[in-house]
Amino acid sequence: MKDSNRTVRWGILGTARIAEKISIAIHQADNAELSCIASRDPVKAADWAQQHHVKRSVGSYEALLQDPNIDAVYIPLPPSMHGEWTVRAAKAGKHVLCEKPLALNVNQAREMRRVCLENQVQLMDGVMWYHHPRAHEMLKLIRSDELGEHRRFTSAFTFCWDEVPENDLRLQRDLGGGSLGDLGWYCIGAALWAFNELPQKVFGTARPYNDVDYNFSGIMWFTKNRIASFDCGFDVSMRKWFELAGTEGSLLCDDFTRPWEKQKPAYYVNDGNGNATRHETGNPLQETCMINHFCDIIRSGRLEQQWSDLGINTQRVLNALDYSARTETVVNLADFFPT
Ligand SMILES: NC(=O)c1ccc[n+]([C@@H]2O[C@H](COP(=O)([O-])OP(=O)(O)OC[C@H]3O[C@@H](n4cnc5c(N)ncnc54)[C@H](OP(=O)(O)O)[C@@H]3O)[C@@H](O)[C@H]2O)c1
Repeated sequence: MKDSNRTVRWGILGTARIAEKISIAIHQADNAELSCIASRDPVKAADWAQQHHVKRSVGSYEALLQDPNIDAVYIPLPPSMHGEWTVRAAKAGKHVLCEKPLALNVNQAREMRRVCLENQVQLMDGVMWYHHPRAHEMLKLIRSDELGEHRRFTSAFTFCWDEVPENDLRLQRDLGGGSLGDLGWYCIGAALWAFNELPQKVFGTARPYNDVDYNFSGIMWFTKNRIASFDCGFDVSMRKWFELAGTEGSLLCDDFTRPWEKQKPAYYVNDGNGNATRHETGNPLQETCMINHFCDIIRSGRLEQQWSDLGINTQRVLNALDYSARTETVVNLADFFPT
């Protein structure tokens, strides 16, 4: 039985495919309750509510924001709508878990953070893996001296469509589509998470389609001779790995965005002499870890600004990479939306 004094009451804006996973997580979390689903179409909302065990449904996003019995909203709308609906939610006093990419550009993301701060609500993007115990273990290793001096962070996140879904939001420029925002967001975020700072300069190259990037390759130069590179796209089979290589060894996670086998999340440490150690970690659902963490923040009353900062930094690097690919130039981050 959930403790009503500690339960965060959630609403979801839009019957998105990904909302199904989050609805399961909210039901599973012991400090959360799924109170309402909103859709542009009231019939769709009612059907979704019935299928996903939600008490109430409403036929507009605004109606959900006006409900005083909602504490937090999850926003899985197309990226072009994240900015507007985050700001409206924050002004209505709701905490915001917003899907990635956070915004269309850095200025919009910064405005989202400003309004959330002004209204004393949490802002976090929907990247789940950061909240899993495996990520905490890997970060502890990264912050230790076990790998020696860090040199390279390499990652990939791809999948392959059998048939190109022309209407998918990922292929619509006006909805904020493109593989960089959809998949590269994870690779960039992981590099910032591991190196704990922003790159100094970046370069990107993309295969264009419909004025979005169908695939993207990026390189980011950091201080202390560290480099991160990645590729992402919709035209290679599923890959979701990163490797952090240092002078004394390397860390490999071959499924960082979501474990291949959810019962056995693992990572590997290689000592550079052919000795690889496999480390298995706890295996809670990463969606539930994220929801639990978000609810804990709200219940503690202490907002964690590091999450919106990470989102905004990821957005800034992403936009610099996109600009680099479009202009075929190396971009200095200091010149690109300086703080
Ligand atoms: N964190 C993750 O693991 C993860 C995974 C997948 C996707 N995502 C992110 O989640 C967001 C949604 O992705 P998705 O693939 O789940 O999207 P989707 O199934 O296409 O759903 C998007 C929803 O947005 C609403 N919407 C409002 N205006 C729309 C418009 N003009 N065109 C299309 N939809 C509109 C619709 O809800 P109503 O019709 O009910 O109003 C629709 O169901 C994206 O930002 C994506 O990057 C995150």
